[in-house]
Amino acid sequence: MAQLWGGRFTKETDKLVYNFNASISFDQKFYEQDIRGSKAHVAMLAKQGILTQEEMEEITRGLDGILKDVSEGRLEITSEYEDIHSFVEATLIDRIGDAGKKLHTGRSRNDQVALDMKLYVRDEIDELDREVKKLLQALENIMELHVNTYMPGFTHLQKAQPVTLAHHIGAYFEMFRRDRGRLSDIRERMNTCPLGAGALAGTTYPLDRAYTAQLLGFNEPTRNSMDSVSDRDYVIELLSALSTIMMHLSRFSEEIILWNSNEYRFVEIDDAYSTGSSIMPQKKNPDIAELVRGKTGRVYGALMSILTTMKGIPLAYNKDMQEDKELTFDAIDTVKGCLALFTGMVSTMQFHEKNMDASARNGFTNATDAADYLVNHGVPFRDAHGIVGRLVLTCIDKGISLDELSLEEYKAISPVFEEDIYDAISMRTCVEKRMTLGAPGPEVMEQVIAMNREYLEKN
Ligand code: ARG
Repeated sequence: MAQLWGGRFTKETDKLVYNFNASISFDQKFYEQDIRGSKAHVAMLAKQGILTQEEMEEITRGLDGILKDVSEGRLEITSEYEDIHSFVEATLIDRIGDAGKKLHTGRSRNDQVALDMKLYVRDEIDELDREVKKLLQALENIMELHVNTYMPGFTHLQKAQPVTLAHHIGAYFEMFRRDRGRLSDIRERMNTCPLGAGALAGTTYPLDRAYTAQLLGFNEPTRNSMDSVSDRDYVIELLSALSTIMMHLSRFSEEIILWNSNEYRFVEIDDAYSTGSSIMPQKKNPDIAELVRGKTGRVYGALMSILTTMKGIPLAYNKDMQEDKELTFDAIDTVKGCLALFTGMVSTMQFHEKNMDASARNGFTNATDAADYLVNHGVPFRDAHGIVGRLVLTCIDKGISLDELSLEEYKAISPVFEEDIYDAISMRTCVEKRMTLGAPGPEVMEQVIAMNREYLEKN
């Protein structure tokens, strides 16, 4: 047990208490960020004349050595230290002696941990963004190939109107594009530097907080030292954005599981992304999609957990906040993993265009267009709806589709129908006539695809 604060204590910490309190088993994950923050801090202290140039250089060399040795596996972060901050400081003092004891001048672990967490979250937002972008690129590729691949669009999971595969996939493109927007909003809002807030009330040293902020790539220093050490809004916002990403991945997974089923056969997941059954030799299961759907719960759990942890904490720092780390790390790693696997799965998946097309053809997805035909010939929409409803009933009776009814059968129900009804309700017309921006018509779809491509090039 190596602690930074033994001075006012007369007894050793109880072993169980020590273990309960310690965070090194998980906060070692941000050793790089901790060292980066310390280097900026001492650079600022030297600039302000609080440390000499030599002291700053000695500390910086020491910190660089620790970083290198940990990264290259020569120095092990052990549970002998309470947290990563203690480990770095103690190792530094051990290696360079007295100069090391000046590292923590004008700083508290409260603003230090607030900084480390922000640096870590900011780095991970950038990585997450790259993963979401790769998925968008994969979706864009699918869209480009399937502007004319017809499939049924559903509402209530009942066939509704024909759409195209590009259109359906395009809906997910929009969702994940918004997800990137959320990540970048959070990054911008959280990008203020808490260092210099001290324990809660700032410090008496003449720190240049703007300089440290600038060295670490922040827009500016935070403006209230109490808020600086107890703000975890950005963690909550990130977990909320991650929950939304998982919700999108989960809905998409659910569709892929349905589409991959024996009943739909719209897609076939690649062998590399499927698993078998230990008992049923015929099985090829969509486990990856199921796991992505399943892991959504755990990311939502992290969000609920931190919201609940934060709700009763008085200002300023309280140890409850240490609980933000494990769940945030886990959620980030989970989402990164899910995104990478999901992207691999969709970009290797085969689309059975014929089955989608056939499915769009039966199930009366052109019934609305038959009603619109009547409307275009002067029949009020409500009456047209009733007429086509009766036609559908006739078809169900005979086990055929609308385009298989004879013209006599059409005319028996409404004399308005003429030979051109067949063209009006063909799958091609149904899709191509939908030409407003956002609809599946191939021309507008091409426009949207071009806009997406431009977005991916610029962002
Ligand atoms: N491990 C602590 C955390 O994660 C670091 C801050 C400790 N500060 C303190 N006053 N005990 O929150």
